Amino acid sequence: MSAGNIGASSAVSKTNKSKSGTRTFCVGVIGATGAVGREVIQLLEKRKFPVSRLRLFCSERSAGERFEFQGQPVSAQTVNRDALAECDYAILCVDAALSRSLAPMLAELKVVAVDNSSAFRTDPAIPLVVPEINGELLKCKPILVANPNCTTIVSLMIAAPLHHVVQLDRITACSYQAVSGAGLAGMHELESQARAWAAGQKFACELFPRPILFNVFPHNSTRQADGANEEEHKFVRESRRILGHDSLRVSVTCVRVPTLRAHAVALHLEFTKAISPAQAADILARAPGVRVVDESNGDQPADPQMASGHDEVLVSRIRVDHGGAPGKSLAMWAVGDQLLKGAALNAVQIMELLIAD
Ligand SMILES: NC(=O)c1ccc[n+]([C@@H]2O[C@H](COP(=O)([O-])OP(=O)(O)OC[C@H]3O[C@@H](n4cnc5c(N)ncnc54)[C@H](OP(=O)(O)O)[C@@H]3O)[C@@H](O)[C@H]2O)c1
Repeated sequence: MSAGNIGASSAVSKTNKSKSGTRTFCVGVIGATGAVGREVIQLLEKRKFPVSRLRLFCSERSAGERFEFQGQPVSAQTVNRDALAECDYAILCVDAALSRSLAPMLAELKVVAVDNSSAFRTDPAIPLVVPEINGELLKCKPILVANPNCTTIVSLMIAAPLHHVVQLDRITACSYQAVSGAGLAGMHELESQARAWAAGQKFACELFPRPILFNVFPHNSTRQADGANEEEHKFVRESRRILGHDSLRVSVTCVRVPTLRAHAVALHLEFTKAISPAQAADILARAPGVRVVDESNGDQPADPQMASGHDEVLVSRIRVDHGGAPGKSLAMWAVGDQLLKGAALNAVQIMELLIAD
C-alpha cells in the first residue's frame, strides 16, 4: 500500500453506541506491554476515553499478560488481522519497523491509527501533531497520525507558545534524557546496575553501550554522517515541521542521564522580537499543558522527579540569555514526563480530537 493510502482520511466509521446513546469505540493498543503502551492503557481509563472494547497486542514474549481496565481483566495477545479488524482506533507503541509493516493493514481495515514511532514523522502526507500546537491538522480526520519525538514535544510545549507571540529565530537545546526513553529495558538496565552496585557486584551493560549508573553519555541512537546522532536529527526536523518554520535555526545536543523517567531540556531561545523573562513567564502561565515553577515563591526549579507522572511540562529558570541577541534571547529549563506528554498522553489527546465532531 502506498503512503498516499495510509495518509488518507478515515471515511468509513465502525462506531458503536452505548446504552446511553454516546459513541463508543473498540481501541487497540499495539505494544501494550511496553513502557508507552502501559501508560496508554491507564490514560484511556483515567481520561474516560469512550472505549467499548479494549484489545491489547504484544509479541509472543509477553502474550497472555493480564491488565485491568475499567475493573475487567484484559489479556494481551499477539497481533492478528481478525482482532485488529474489530478496532476503530489503534495506538501503536512498537518500534518503527513494526509500525511500518502494520500501517498498510490498519489502513486497509479502516482502523484509525496514532503511531508513537519515528516511522511516519517525515512523510508529508501524514500529520505530525502536538494537539496544543498544531491540533488543527486533525480536522481533516486523517487515518494515520504520527506522534512526535519525546524531547521535541517537551521542548516545543515551551517554545511554541512564545513563538506564536514573538517568532522564534533560533533554538539551542541540550537534553538530559531519562532511561525510559529507551523503553522498559532502559529502566531495567539502570535498576539492575544500581542493585548490583549496592550488592558490591559487577554489573552488565546489555542495552546501553556503557554503564548508565553514575554516568552520562551522548544519546545512544545511531551516529549520522554529519556527526550528529539520530535523536538530534529528529529534534531539528520535527521542530521545524511542527512549528511550520522551515528556516528555524536549531542547535541540539542530546544526552542520556541516569534518571528513570521525565526528560529535562536546557533551552536557549532567540526571537525576532523583544521579550522579557516576565513576559515569557506570563505567556507560559496561560499556555495549556504547561506549568511555570516560580522560584521567586521559594520553589526549587523543576526536576525529573517533580515532573514524573504528571501531564504538564514544567518550566523554570526563565532568564535573560546574555549570549544571544540583546533583549530577544531567553534561557529556561523545561522538564516533562516523556512517557506521558512525550508519548502516551499526546497520542490519547490526538485520539480525543479525532473522535470530536
Ligand atoms: N519510551 C519513550 O519515552 C518513548 C517516547 C516517545 C516515543 N516512543 C516510541 O514508542 C514506541 C514504543 O516505545 P517503548 O518505550 O514503549 O518500548 P518498549 O518498552 O520496548 O515496548 C515495546 C513494545 O513493543 C512490543 N513488541 C515488540 N515486538 C512486537 C511484535 N512483533 N508484535 C507486537 N508487539 C511487539 C513489546 O511487546 P513484548 O512485551 O511482547 O516484547 C512491547 O509491548 C517506540 O517506537 C519508541 O521509539 C517511546
